[in-house]
Amino acid sequence: MKKFRSFRLDPANQCLWRGEKRVPITPKAFDVLRYLVEHPGRLVTQDEILEALWPETYVNPELIKKYILGIRKVLGDRHDQPIFIETLPRRGYQFVAPVSEDVVADLQDLSPHPTSRMVGREDALDALHIALKKALRSQRQVIFVAGEPGIGKTTLVDSFHQRASHQGNVRTARGQCVEGFGGKEPYYPMLEAIGQLTRTPDADPVVQTLAKRAPTWLIQFPSLVKAEQREALQREILGATRERMVREICEALEWLSSETPLVLIIEDLHWVDPSTLDLLSALARRREPAKLMLVCTYRPVDVILSNSGLKALKQDLQVHNLCTEIALERLPEPAIAEYLGTEFPDASLPSAMSNLVHRHSGGNPLFMVAIIQDLVKRDLIAQEDGHWKLTTSLETIDPGVPQSLQQMLEVQFERLTATEQRALEAGSVVGEHFSAWTIATALDEKPDHLEDVCDELAARQQIIKSVGSQELPNGVLSAHFEFRHSLYRQAIYRRLSSGKRSRLHHAVAERLRALSGPGRRELASEIAFHFENGREYEPATRFLILAAENAAARFAYRDCIQVLQHALQLVARIESAAAAELEVQVLEFIGDAHYALGAMPESAAAYQSAACRAAAAGLKAAQVRALSCMVWPFGLIDPDRGIAAVNQAVEVTRDIQNSILFARTQMLAAGSRLLYDCWREEDALLCASAYKQLKELGDTETLPFHNTMSAYVQALQGNYLEALEMFEKGIPKLNQPTSLMEHFSALGGKTMVLLRVGRLGEVLEIVRDARALAEKNGNDPWLFNFREAWLRMLALDFEGSARVCDSILRMKTHYPTGQPQTIARIARGYAAIAGGFTDIDRGQYGHAIELFSQVRDPETTPKFFLHWMWRMIAWLGISEAWLQSKNIEKATVDADGFSHSALQTADPHLQALAWEIQARIALFKKDWAHAEDWVHKAVEILRRFEVPVAAWRVHATACQLYVGKNQYAEAEAHRERAQAYILKIANSFPKDEPLRESFLSAAPIARILNVTGQDLAAAG
Ligand SMILES: Nc1ncnc2c1ncn2[C@@H]1O[C@H](COP(=O)(O)OP(=O)(O)OP(=O)(O)O)[C@@H](O)[C@H]1O
Ligand SMILES: [Mg+2]
Repeated sequence: MKKFRSFRLDPANQCLWRGEKRVPITPKAFDVLRYLVEHPGRLVTQDEILEALWPETYVNPELIKKYILGIRKVLGDRHDQPIFIETLPRRGYQFVAPVSEDVVADLQDLSPHPTSRMVGREDALDALHIALKKALRSQRQVIFVAGEPGIGKTTLVDSFHQRASHQGNVRTARGQCVEGFGGKEPYYPMLEAIGQLTRTPDADPVVQTLAKRAPTWLIQFPSLVKAEQREALQREILGATRERMVREICEALEWLSSETPLVLIIEDLHWVDPSTLDLLSALARRREPAKLMLVCTYRPVDVILSNSGLKALKQDLQVHNLCTEIALERLPEPAIAEYLGTEFPDASLPSAMSNLVHRHSGGNPLFMVAIIQDLVKRDLIAQEDGHWKLTTSLETIDPGVPQSLQQMLEVQFERLTATEQRALEAGSVVGEHFSAWTIATALDEKPDHLEDVCDELAARQQIIKSVGSQELPNGVLSAHFEFRHSLYRQAIYRRLSSGKRSRLHHAVAERLRALSGPGRRELASEIAFHFENGREYEPATRFLILAAENAAARFAYRDCIQVLQHALQLVARIESAAAAELEVQVLEFIGDAHYALGAMPESAAAYQSAACRAAAAGLKAAQVRALSCMVWPFGLIDPDRGIAAVNQAVEVTRDIQNSILFARTQMLAAGSRLLYDCWREEDALLCASAYKQLKELGDTETLPFHNTMSAYVQALQGNYLEALEMFEKGIPKLNQPTSLMEHFSALGGKTMVLLRVGRLGEVLEIVRDARALAEKNGNDPWLFNFREAWLRMLALDFEGSARVCDSILRMKTHYPTGQPQTIARIARGYAAIAGGFTDIDRGQYGHAIELFSQVRDPETTPKFFLHWMWRMIAWLGISEAWLQSKNIEKATVDADGFSHSALQTADPHLQALAWEIQARIALFKKDWAHAEDWVHKAVEILRRFEVPVAAWRVHATACQLYVGKNQYAEAEAHRERAQAYILKIANSFPKDEPLRESFLSAAPIARILNVTGQDLAAAG
């Protein structure tokens, strides 16, 4: 601390001391004084002060004069004979008093008894310190501090906090749960606490730990993420879930606390949001050693009223001995006597004084302090000759003290001036914490004036305290204030008539809206709260939608749905025409959130409600959108209903003159029919022409999902490069909103194309990355598991494929259409064939045919995405099994069936395989002519399409054919081409990838690679 004459400047507490007495000074005057004291003995110009204290705002230089005047008054300095501040006319000021460092005071400030005025809480403080000691020994501690309003929870925790921070090598952070809108902001107090940790001088390890262990949290602090990191981070957290967010921060906090112990204080848990509660629950239950202490305060009564899950959580933790509770009781009379003793040292107060205060306050410390302050303000206790004294008899005071705290506060309030009352009323509407700017503009008054009014109140230590100047989102620097206690705010708020309340809420909402500017979500739930209480339901709903977006960005989809359900209630009260549109928007958003949670029936139901509501209100475009959305969830649980919905969407678009919307919907509908029902030439044409039309119309807003559908259609026609390009576009890039399904369906499509074109190595890489990500997120990576099963099938590793399939079959899946199970059956079937015995009835072939038949049977296997393609592959498998078991008659029947349906599609892969199996059957029959014919047909397809995974088989069969016909040169030419395709596939893997080796050594491959033209001739 700096000392000058009898004064000390205390920057930590932002106050000025004269001896042991705190000297009232407004925050701005304090800042100016501090600047002068820190630059003593030289000229300080007005500009310098303005530049140093308010660098980015315009402040009228005249104000400096005013502050100097105030400072002189406080210091008792004289303008004409200054001993502290000298004015150098037209140039500036100079601090002329000698300034020294007051080391003793600094040490005192660091002493372990900073809040000497806290009485009667020795046991509680001891309990906290014992817990801290345990935490320092890596025994995680969870402490609840409970008690009625004003009982002293915050005071106790403050005192502990201060001492813990002075312990050295302990990190501390605090978060505050907020009444009203706070509960709608997922992780509100946790984000506050973590934010604090990232702003301390030793924040580096914190930020690094977040980056490494909790990217889902790091991204919540945009200012900590460098632009070049953003894309990687965005990918890293794709599809994250609530579970992942919780796990990551637990691990990050544990990691951080392993080095430096961490005390985390969360205040007023009775207002906690469900996500934070989840997180605290996880943090309390984890058993990993951690130098972590969690201190939570709450009011038991409010927990019961708010119906929060806190009660159950706390009871459960208590049963399992995972937490300790400190219940604060009211202060006994001796504690009050002690308090009076410390407040009024050397006083000659009657001993019955403590009894009186105790009787009136009931031992509630907040009330106790209020009574005593009131007596001082009214000069009933006053200093005379340096001693505190009662200036009247105890008996006259006794009946004068109000009966309740509320009454007491009302009396105090009524003694204030009209402007002071107005300022506080507006403040009570804004919340615990308010800026002078907000209340002034809400009241249509000058901000400077109200700032002075509040500064005065704060300096008199009445009702509010100053918490310094902060920059508002609109760049204005404004003084901020806080109610000294939440009950003060409540008392003032309760006095307001309901009309006045809602007028003020409305005005505050408008100010905050102007502050936050368009597109900014930070203040959304707060603004929504004020609009709702200002009975402006339309803007309230709009801001709730923004608040729901906030929740979704924190992967807190359940909270997001809760916010939206609340919005639905408000929508019902909107009288304007916007009601229906908003309702549809909210319902659709609910559908999205359920979808993100994997709750498909709920998602479909919400979209359906949206579609119905839109239909009833004649909002055709909105109806089309909602109907189109239905295909996402229904695609996974009931594809026919999805198709019906998009078909209906097309019908509705016929009534609207909007060619883009029409083409978009046509494309989606045709694509859905092709992918979920069956292949039809006319749908393929429709899909392609709609896509072309959208491109020509310059449509930029088609949902990636629509394009992905259309890309699949391209892929199924063998237009692989084009499809690949379209899928790539569907994979979200820099800063795009993260939608897991969009990403997965595009990535899934990409792997399908890569498989067809033989780039198996790339697929393996994608599969591994995606699976690692899914594991982090706690998602079911079924899509990628069965891609791997498929990949291994193509690489002839049937055992490996079967292993992956078994893992899929063991997994619980949410999707009744059982897509992964189907692929698993097929892979198992092929594995059985590869392992094959000849005994069809009892051996592996029989098993394979059984599995394939299950896939073909619509009862066992209902429709799913691309089900027809898989059913064909199963049919091919049946024919293969019969062929290998040498039952040619049956093999022919099934091969004919398969070929017939494959030739109905436009898929070169299926078609090449269809000709190939026919050729092999003909070869078996030694029907060379037909075999050659089929081989030619297959080769013809390969000439037009690049499908290596089918191509090597075709050429291998061709080679076999020409050996049979003794045409060795042709045989060798085909063998070489088969080999080239095989090597192309193998070389897509890294050299050391075991799958590469196993592919190259699989029997059918080895047959081709290890044989030369001469061998062929010799064999022939
Ligand atoms: N042990 C104490 N000794 C002296 N004064 C106290 C004590 N406890 C609380 N006070 C006084 O009472 C006021 C209210 O206490 P505090 O804010 O800690 O209550 P709280 O329990 O946190 O209330 P709430 O539930 O509303 O948050 C404090 O500002 C302080 O002036
Ligand atoms: Mg408190």
